[in-house]
Amino acid sequence: MKQRTLTIIKPECVEEKHIGEVIQRIEKAGFEIVGMKMVQLQEKEAKIFYQVHEGKPFYEELVQYMSSGRVVVMVLEKENAVQGFRDFIGATDPQKAAEGTIRRDFGKSIQFNCIHASDSVENAQKEVAFFFSQRELI
Ligand code: CMP
Repeated sequence: MKQRTLTIIKPECVEEKHIGEVIQRIEKAGFEIVGMKMVQLQEKEAKIFYQVHEGKPFYEELVQYMSSGRVVVMVLEKENAVQGFRDFIGATDPQKAAEGTIRRDFGKSIQFNCIHASDSVENAQKEVAFFFSQRELI
């Protein structure tokens, strides 16, 4: 069944001018981009977006980092998109990510790992709605 998932090209990956290559890899892997925008998250928005991690030792740093610069947010559509995209980008820790994955090639550390992916179908729906209105999804 076709699913939608949300991805974010994170601040350091944008800063280092990897947007084009990351998007090219995503498209070549068969994910269809059905929504896309560039934004800089306000701190309060990043707090809400990452609310599931509130209380974890890395939460405050993660919020600061994700609101520190421009990000590219996309909604991707494909069969089994949620798990498929997580597998495609590689493990959260770039050092543990498989060779040839986006996180392995562009990630620097477990925090600066280049790209976000929704972790479940339920969260994907919430995350898509957080960033996009219905008319922005084509
Ligand atoms: P992401 O897929 O965006 O979801 C949560 C983010 O928290 C994750 O990518 C990392 O950027 C960050 N993160 C997860 N675990 C850790 C950790 N142990 N230390 C620092 N940052 C983490």
